[in-house]
Amino acid sequence: MIYSKIIGTGSYLPDKVLTNFDLEKIVDTSDEWIVSRSGIRERHIAAEGQMTSDLALQASLKAIEAAGIVANDIDLIIVATTSPDKIFPSTACLLQDKLGITSGGAAFDLQAVCGGFVYAINSADLYIRAGQARTVLVVGAEVMSRMLDWTDRATCVLFGDGAGAVIMQASDAPGVLAAKLHSDGRHHALLRADGNICNGEVQGDPFIKMEGQAVFKFAVTALSRVVDEVMLEANMKSADIDWLVPHQANIRIIEATAKKLGLSMDNVVVTLSHHGNTSSASIPLALDVAVREGRIKVGQNLLLEAIGGGFTWGAVLLRW
Ligand code: ACO
Repeated sequence: MIYSKIIGTGSYLPDKVLTNFDLEKIVDTSDEWIVSRSGIRERHIAAEGQMTSDLALQASLKAIEAAGIVANDIDLIIVATTSPDKIFPSTACLLQDKLGITSGGAAFDLQAVCGGFVYAINSADLYIRAGQARTVLVVGAEVMSRMLDWTDRATCVLFGDGAGAVIMQASDAPGVLAAKLHSDGRHHALLRADGNICNGEVQGDPFIKMEGQAVFKFAVTALSRVVDEVMLEANMKSADIDWLVPHQANIRIIEATAKKLGLSMDNVVVTLSHHGNTSSASIPLALDVAVREGRIKVGQNLLLEAIGGGFTWGAVLLRW
């Protein structure tokens, strides 16, 4: 039986840091309000001209090095992003070029907003298990800061820029064990950006609009259900989970999911205080930190979960 396994991780945050105290000077907010409502203390902001593919490149190079492969070994690139460099070509193709890949593998973007990384892991797993790809680069990369209305305190304090990447490879040993994805387009208006920014050009209204409380309520319920579903699919119980690696949007949503699972927060990877909500990049950013700190060990079971605009949501269970 063919499995897909993560064999290397990498992440990248832009140099510029914007703290809650910096935000106090921009909008009517406070460090106390932001930390108590979201758990976020600072976020990283891409430099002028630094594009999503640039962030993706830095994270990918680290993942490639950690996996001990060369870029031309990659036969599929999936970039989960809601802030692509351009309308087309895809950020995945731009990344393929920046990585110097000439071996002609496939590359595409996947758009499921904050749910993007679990969607992308599921896609990579299916390609590998079907025998259509052997070594897949899966990236979550975002420049959310250009989609923020810096006069709207309800949204601009929550998001940040960053990228995370993993290399997935075909393996005889178990890796991805189960995945469950959902979407419900009836809620599309609750979290959205109506226009877009292409090559720095603004078209329509590109700024994030969010009904915060409605998103919060839906997220807590949907994530609680989907983690149960994926454990059922893998024939596992909460006690079998070593690490929850959740989408890093809000500490209160993360705590609610951990509580529902009966997991101690000691078994939850939380990095959002340093980078805010980086949308599709948040899970691989958190994963890379925990892997490089040696917290995640071979043979452990990891539960990844995320929800984003659409709504899209899902969970993946995998063996490290
Ligand atoms: N600083 C100070 N006050 C603020 C700020 C701010 N940055 N933003 C809003 N407020 C004010 C509001 O104006 C309101 O004031 P009022 O009572 O005078 O009208 C008050 O704070 C309460 O506002 P609420 O929106 O009710 O605050 P709430 O407790 O719901 O927290 C939050 C807001 C943090 C957005 C919360 O609803 C939330 O976390 N929602 C989930 C959103 C999320 O995580 N989105 C990420 C994208 S989706 C995803 O990744 C899951």
